[in-house]
Amino acid sequence: MEQYAIKGGNPLVGEVEIGGAKNAALPIIAAAVMTNDTIHIDNVPDVRDINVLLQSMKELGVIVNRQDRHRLTLNASHIHGLVVNDDNIKKIRGSYYLIGSMLGKYKKVEVALPGGCNIGSRAIDQHIKGFRALGAEVKIEHGLIKTQAERLRGNHIYMDIVSVGATINVMMAATMAEGTTIIENAAKEPHVVDLANFLNSMGANIKGAGTDVIRIKGVQKMHGTDYTIIPDQIEAGTFMFGAAITRGDVTVKNVIPKHLESISAKLQEIGCEVEESDDAVRVVSAKPLRHSHVKTLPYPGFPTDMQPQITVALGLSQGTSIVTESIFDNRFKYVDELTRMGASIKVESGNMAIIDGVKRYTGATITVPDLRAGAALVMAALAAEGISIVEEIHYIQRGYEDFHLKLQSLGAQIEIVDSERELQKFKLKIG
Ligand code: EPU
Repeated sequence: MEQYAIKGGNPLVGEVEIGGAKNAALPIIAAAVMTNDTIHIDNVPDVRDINVLLQSMKELGVIVNRQDRHRLTLNASHIHGLVVNDDNIKKIRGSYYLIGSMLGKYKKVEVALPGGCNIGSRAIDQHIKGFRALGAEVKIEHGLIKTQAERLRGNHIYMDIVSVGATINVMMAATMAEGTTIIENAAKEPHVVDLANFLNSMGANIKGAGTDVIRIKGVQKMHGTDYTIIPDQIEAGTFMFGAAITRGDVTVKNVIPKHLESISAKLQEIGCEVEESDDAVRVVSAKPLRHSHVKTLPYPGFPTDMQPQITVALGLSQGTSIVTESIFDNRFKYVDELTRMGASIKVESGNMAIIDGVKRYTGATITVPDLRAGAALVMAALAAEGISIVEEIHYIQRGYEDFHLKLQSLGAQIEIVDSERELQKFKLKIG
């Protein structure tokens, strides 16, 4: 099993290119089935979740060509089935975006219930409510979500909670429904807007994405397009917090600073300097970190996908901090691992971490529980005294391309090892 071997103590210093947003790429790729024309997509991250989705789409008959590492063409004119139930698809969350896209185009699809990171219960009632409101029948049987409709008809849908996935899925299905759909209390995340822009470039008529109310006028036909995915807000934020945690100086390049505002604001509050330019943000951590309180919220609030990273930083700050997780109900599992590195954190009611800052972390063998927590634990190990072994790194590879290589380019001592011998070699090399 591959692991990261890490020797902590080097600040991260330098520049790092941020890739395309995984959580935008997943629905955009799934939406490619909505036309028989060829779709070109640029800035697709080469990460495991995307590759799993592409593999499932190939099995459905979609022709997928990678023109280079980050540019894809997709053609879905010869789909030969409306059941998505291969072994891979259950591992990722984004698989359920094939419901919205295929229900929209074919008015029928069966998709295995989604997996994804285990960060709490992840209901899909709002997706189902939305599909039903558009006139689809929805059943769950034998681990499959089965949907079909004679016709989809636009409707007025109020989302009971703000859900990225439900907003995206219902928006896709409504794109090819008859008449107008209005989604109220919609998610406003940058990837929701990116998907709407992509669908509009395919001929859809969607207005209001990025606000609470999205208005979709159904169209009968979608066409080919050439589209570039937005930069990954969370990959950028992870490296920005990496600078804070390791007391470094990192410039994240190819980003949209507006998408990073809540992250930049918190970094400044805890004592970092943040400089923005057109498509880059520099974070310098020269002063001792200060405590803060933070609550995760839907965009433009502080993202739940940055909660472990800020917790790791606050674990090294002066004073007591409180981090409240308001999106998922079990997203502090990594705290046990961090505690083994010397952190002083108490989790109350499963959704609130009370953090007493410590002076330093110490290296340990730690197990990654999910994607974002994994990235945060790596940052903790990079700041820690001594050597850490990070296990179950496949979670990190779901969403971060070349994570260890990007960290190495910033001066980190990190390598992938998959045997005791390689670990010993790493230890000898770093002295
Ligand atoms: N929820 C419901 N009913 C629903 C849908 C959601 O109760 O029908 C609840 C969930 O249980 C959760 C909350 O609403 O408590 C928010 O869920 P949301 O639907 O917004 O999340 P998601 O679509 O499942 C996406 C990202 C997550 C990210 C969240 C929040 C993808 C593939 N996943 O998940 O990303 O944390 O939005 O921003 O886009 C990650 O990339 O590591 C990751 C976990």
